[in-house]
Amino acid sequence: MTDTDTLNTTDWLPVCPQRELGPDERRIVSGPDCDILVINADGVILAVTNECSHQALPLSEARLDGDVIACPWHNAEFCLRTGEALSAPAYEPIGCHDIRIEGDQIYVSAQPRDEQHS
Ligand code: FES
Repeated sequence: MTDTDTLNTTDWLPVCPQRELGPDERRIVSGPDCDILVINADGVILAVTNECSHQALPLSEARLDGDVIACPWHNAEFCLRTGEALSAPAYEPIGCHDIRIEGDQIYVSAQPRDEQHS
């Protein structure tokens, strides 16, 4: 069975080989509705919508501390696992995207977790 047999390419977007995403490294993937930020957080690959819920500015340069990112614009913090806003000035969550690894290839879901089945 090949990767294309198991993945619906409209739902899963290729990111990069896993070996190319070291600890604390990140990639931006163009999604159908917005860019997706994929981060290696202490060895765990996590992905969120690359848009802060405060003023919709990109999170790609966010400071990373474990599974928490701090927006580079006004320092709102978010949990990468749940998308929950952890500190002001953001109060709304950001979207979380599922990660799938096939062989050495990382894929990210095109839609945020809570919108996949709507
Ligand atoms: S845009 Fe992220 S905290 Fe303001």
